[in-house]
Amino acid sequence: MSIQQDKIQELVERRAAAKLGGGQSRIDAQHQKGKLTARERLALLLDPGSFEEFDMFVQHRCTNFGMDANHPDGDGVVTGQGTVDGRLVFVFAQDFTVNGGSLSKTMSEKICKVMDMAVRVGAPVIGLNDSGGARIQEGIDALAGYGEIFERNILASGVVPQISGIFGPCAGGAVYSPALTDFTLMVQDTSYMFLTGPAVVKSVTGEDVDQESLGGAAVHASKSGVAHFSAPSEEEGIATLKKLLSFLPQNNLETAPERPTADPVGRVDDALNDIVPDNPNKAYDMYGVIRSIVDDGEFFEVHKDFAKNIIVGFAHMGGRSVGIVANQPGVLAGVLDINASRKGARFVRFCDAFNIPLVTLVDVPGFLPGTQQEYGAIITNGAKLLFAYGEATVPKVTVTLRKSYGGAHIVMSCKQLRGDVNYAWPSAEIAVMGADGAVGVLYGKELKAEVDPAKQAAIAETRKQEYNELFCNPYQAAQKGYIEDVIEPRNTRFRVIRALAVLDGKRQEIPAKKHDNLPL
Ligand code: HXC
Repeated sequence: MSIQQDKIQELVERRAAAKLGGGQSRIDAQHQKGKLTARERLALLLDPGSFEEFDMFVQHRCTNFGMDANHPDGDGVVTGQGTVDGRLVFVFAQDFTVNGGSLSKTMSEKICKVMDMAVRVGAPVIGLNDSGGARIQEGIDALAGYGEIFERNILASGVVPQISGIFGPCAGGAVYSPALTDFTLMVQDTSYMFLTGPAVVKSVTGEDVDQESLGGAAVHASKSGVAHFSAPSEEEGIATLKKLLSFLPQNNLETAPERPTADPVGRVDDALNDIVPDNPNKAYDMYGVIRSIVDDGEFFEVHKDFAKNIIVGFAHMGGRSVGIVANQPGVLAGVLDINASRKGARFVRFCDAFNIPLVTLVDVPGFLPGTQQEYGAIITNGAKLLFAYGEATVPKVTVTLRKSYGGAHIVMSCKQLRGDVNYAWPSAEIAVMGADGAVGVLYGKELKAEVDPAKQAAIAETRKQEYNELFCNPYQAAQKGYIEDVIEPRNTRFRVIRALAVLDGKRQEIPAKKHDNLPL
């Protein structure tokens, strides 16, 4: 063998050794836990043959606790670039087989390098987390590494999409990197996120709790809202991340790719004309409305199990990627509460940051009243959604299906929050409040003065009818130009797509400022 061939052989062997991470026995242990390795995850995520790895030979520099005796090439993270459906992405996948994927200073340098590249060229960053947290042997260096990653998460926010997959433990301050990114996906049964683990919880508060109940996928997808998606397996989780990417642009200066469709723009759906029940207190299927108006009936829901009284997610309309926000009359009558407001606001802000038009479907009876909500700062949290819609400069098309009452009417992308095109169905009720509440306030004294319960009920009924005729319709708003048009429900798809087409070239500014002061 020539000297050159020897050198090439050495490279081949070094690559093979680096690819084994912490070694075959640890890879086997990872599989026994029902988990894939970092490289297997990247192979599922990226187009075949597209992965180019960076820093495969980087080693940690720690000498404490005998660490200098073991410094595998690549350390505990696999980083690089590749493509997903032909589009460039930057990736890092923590390798649990090397020191439990715990973060060393060199690992943070590898992660920061791909994040810097992603911002420089304008491509999404996808991080697959599976780590015991800060590498204890490195002390403050490991913490500094986290700090450097967090700072990059912050500076990249709103510049390139950042997506986190949680495929194992993610504990301590390490949870803040995913929390700073745009979307977090957790895998059921094998991943968890918490600031302090069960043992610390027990010693500080006395509470007995296991990992799953403290920070499993179900908890974060349904109770805390920390996770936007939860998947039953790693394979399905990665498929979800790929699907998510298909709705997003590469960066904040681009628009999302168009997706050609055979679904006719002019498709009408007669069933929508009958979907709103005659009884205003009866629910109907908002998902049915969404599926009816979007391309091919395909809706990709975000935060599916969290704050189900509002629905948010992506779809295509006439080939364009759009963000859909819809009140859900089937859950808590579609009322806005703290969690629904937070969920909606975060989604609206994401769409605005990344040039994704917003289509809002309104059927909202108001904000949820009560001490629990007031003590939990529904005022501040509701203001988040209000703020998000008001500052958004992407095309905003709103359709009011039924109720649109009071403050919630304003919040849900009304005309005065710079809604571009606002439509209403004939069933719309755009008013300060519903008839029951209004009659109670306006005619309370008159009703109390009537001692005969039958006569009292009759007066109330008459007053409600008067109120309904006057206010519980779309025409007050239409007469004043607060909505552009009252449309037949069956034409909704066509009308919304036409509005979006007109708004393609929309340009709107907000006053120059350092940054806004969103009510946090
Ligand atoms: C160094 C670590 C490590 C860590 C795990 N390992 N976590 N090494 N620093 N933080 C090593 C283990 O010693 C072990 O090495 C290997 O990784 C696999 O770990 P196991 O414990 O065998 O695996 P498992 O039973 O699956 O348990 C996984 C685990 C547990 C639950 C993550 O390892 C654990 O509790 N680790 C500590 C978690 C933690 O408290 N981290 C600090 C959080 S605070 P060997 O060689 O024996 O196989 C933090 C601050 C961040 O991160 C602040 C940011 C601002």
